[in-house]
Amino acid sequence: MIDYVKMNESHVPAVAQLEALCFSEPWSENSVASELKNPLSLWLVAVADGQVVGYVGSQTVLGEADMMNLAVVPQYRRRGIAEGLVQSLISALKEREAVSLALEVRVSNEPAIALYQKMGFHQVGRRPGYYRKPKEDALILRKEW
Ligand code: COA
Repeated sequence: MIDYVKMNESHVPAVAQLEALCFSEPWSENSVASELKNPLSLWLVAVADGQVVGYVGSQTVLGEADMMNLAVVPQYRRRGIAEGLVQSLISALKEREAVSLALEVRVSNEPAIALYQKMGFHQVGRRPGYYRKPKEDALILRKEW
């Protein structure tokens, strides 16, 4: 049983650890914690057996949301948790009267691209050399509702 809930202070260390595990330029614990004070930000976590097993982070400006981070603990992947996180985020954004969600993804990140395609995101652009460590283009994907 997975619960999708708003991130709170108690979740921050686990979220930062998962960031460090999954990304070459991870957000620090302080950066993640500061999102709790940002009125534009909405972060959700997936909790299983009392443990954080995934998270998604977003910011919304003038009704247009951006997803900044999404990750699931390796042992919990391919169980629909990322899909549950993004769907829960979209539901929460709708309540806040946002109309779209956009994100960047590495062109080589086939699992993430497959997830976003399954969920109805479409490509709206490409940013050459957007990522470092290693340098790589980003696809810009978006979903409106
Ligand atoms: N290969 C192919 N398709 C995949 C996939 C993989 N390894 N992982 C997910 N998908 C697609 C499938 O369409 C899947 O549906 P299906 O299982 O019915 O076939 C759909 O996404 C939903 O998968 P889900 O189980 O919800 O994804 P997940 O919980 O395993 O998490 C990531 C997916 C991308 C978040 C996870 O692999 C991860 O944390 N990766 C490292 C961090 C990362 O790259 N984040 C995204 C940054 S933009």
